[in-house]
Amino acid sequence: MKLGFQNLRVVAFESRNSGKMRELISQHDGLAQVAPAMAEAPLEENVRAIQFGQRLLKGEISLVIFMTGVGTQTLIKVLEKNFDHQELRDAFSRVGVIARGPKPLETLRNLGISKIISISEPSTWKEVLDILDTNKSFPKLSGLTIGLQESGNPNYSLVKELKARGAIVFQVPVYRWTLPVDTKPLKKAMSDLISGNCQVALFTNSVQVSHLFQIAEQYHQRDSLRRSFSNVVTASIGPSCTKALKREQLEVDLQSAKPTMDQLVQETALHSTKLLANKRQTEQTRIKVKLKEENNLTLKQNCNHLNSSPFIRACRCQPNNFTPIWLMRQAGRYMEEYQAIRSKTSFLELCKTPDLAAEVTVTAAHRLGVDAAIIFADILLILEPMGLGVSFDGESGPSIQGLIRSHSDVSRLREVNPQESLSFVFEAVRKSRAGLQSKIPLIGFSGAPFTLASYMIEGGGVKNYRYTKGLMYRDSGAWKALMELISRSLIKYLNGQIAAGAQAVQLFDSWVGCLSPEDYKQWVLPYTRYVIENIQPGIPTIYFSTGTSGYLELIKKTGAHVISVDWRVNLVQAWSRLGRNVAIQGNMDPLVLLTTPDIVTSRAKELLDSVQGQPGHIFNLGHGILPQTPVENVIRLVEEVHEISNLSSLNN
Ligand code: CP3
Repeated sequence: MKLGFQNLRVVAFESRNSGKMRELISQHDGLAQVAPAMAEAPLEENVRAIQFGQRLLKGEISLVIFMTGVGTQTLIKVLEKNFDHQELRDAFSRVGVIARGPKPLETLRNLGISKIISISEPSTWKEVLDILDTNKSFPKLSGLTIGLQESGNPNYSLVKELKARGAIVFQVPVYRWTLPVDTKPLKKAMSDLISGNCQVALFTNSVQVSHLFQIAEQYHQRDSLRRSFSNVVTASIGPSCTKALKREQLEVDLQSAKPTMDQLVQETALHSTKLLANKRQTEQTRIKVKLKEENNLTLKQNCNHLNSSPFIRACRCQPNNFTPIWLMRQAGRYMEEYQAIRSKTSFLELCKTPDLAAEVTVTAAHRLGVDAAIIFADILLILEPMGLGVSFDGESGPSIQGLIRSHSDVSRLREVNPQESLSFVFEAVRKSRAGLQSKIPLIGFSGAPFTLASYMIEGGGVKNYRYTKGLMYRDSGAWKALMELISRSLIKYLNGQIAAGAQAVQLFDSWVGCLSPEDYKQWVLPYTRYVIENIQPGIPTIYFSTGTSGYLELIKKTGAHVISVDWRVNLVQAWSRLGRNVAIQGNMDPLVLLTTPDIVTSRAKELLDSVQGQPGHIFNLGHGILPQTPVENVIRLVEEVHEISNLSSLNN
């Protein structure tokens, strides 16, 4: 039996022979994704090299050091293209010339330069310096102008030492390769690696490695990209490519025996499934150890700060000096700071860039003065690793590709391993936790099973849930399989967020109010309860739904510590139906925030007065903040809730 890639997604970075590479991967049963990573740089782009030539001919350079073979060749090509051959030879014969290794030496000899100082093994920059310190031709470096050919990164140590000896260093970076004009495929390859969509990566030269990481750097994704390789079989065509991968701290799983594309693809195909399995196992063990360490740390942090946080105390129905408040969708389009970031980054990119997601989370919490932060993410992020496409285009809301409408559709869904595919959320949690004041708890979240299922089935927001109810009523087996799959994934995802530093979690069941009490009880409650029961003990759980005032008693059976209700129900009546042993979150109409600060204040006061400071109330809206909301009104609301509730607790 031929052992091929077995439908693994294989990313390669080959440019010139991209067609052949695609073919080879497909012939070996791989799903090919070829993202050309480089283009030949026009010699004219080497402006600094041309300046160097001018200065050399004018006699302003005393010594030239050639560091690399390819760099020397390119530099000489640029010079020959722009200057007279004989003048160049004469100019080089008047200055000191050092060649760091045999390759630059050969190129220089071919040009007809005879007086060349070559460097002894191992020919590192230190041996270059030794020659300069001991060779009688250069009694002192002070005041000498040295031309230093470099390719790729500058050699900072050598430059520093030369400058320390009083030399003037004229650095001459030469480019043989640049990024391709169209970097979209490369960027997509980077995102796919990070989100766990590619299982094998083939590198056919060392520049591809640095260009891939250069793109990652542009999007602040260097670390995420590096980490993603712990689940990707990484194959290199030869030693210098392997070296470049190791320089990026990547583990190279395979180096092909001969440096040809055919050999590389064939060998990798043969071993890829085995290598991948080994890699995954190692990664699992590493994650387990890390999670254990992190859990211990989080537990310690929790103990120190959580017991005094008004938000956490309210989740546990403990009394407070004032009513804590946070707001669903508190970070979003109504805020200038958010819009500034969004003008440069798409929504999905923002969610997948931990530094930016953390910045949005922390900025919103600080600006508003709320008592809890919620991690910036979206309930739909989990759909991608389950095998569906998700896009957020403009005003029309999210849309999902690859809808689930039958049992066979359910069977093609993948169970999520969030440590692999949603690690960017965990990273954002870590970074947000580090950026928040320790007294402000961080809420993790996900969609609840029903609301996620409805998005998978309908493809977006809808009015009557025709297809969702259709599947639920007609094919209970498919429904059960779907809800179980989602629930299992959610448990891992939410506990992962907790391990990364989230101190409470909220399940958003935004659309479940479309169901009758009986349908809720039979088709939704068991799964929601299962998720909540499996959240790490000691972490408060909040269950949010809208339009469910007809069956709050069933909502209570989810077992959540906090029930979040909308404005369609009177908060005090809702609480008495739920019983005082659960906390309640809500429930101002978000539209109130579109009025004036005075109306906001009086409506907040009415709500607080009705609750009378009962322990266990968390002030919030009945649904998320709307994009049209003036931020001043939100800040005013937070201040007023703190002030009014503080006064009322003094009066009691
Ligand atoms: O509360 C916060 O600050 C955290 C961030 C957060 C977002 N989505 C960011 C977001 C949270 C908690 C969510 C949850 C979410 N996402 C829900 C449940 C809550 C609810 O409102 O019912 C739902 C149903 C979604 C799905 C979703 N995501 C929709 C329907 C939309 C488009 C409509 C809208 O509100 O903009 C999104 C996009 C989205 N999620 C945005 C934000 C900030 C806007 C994206 C943009 O910048 O254009």
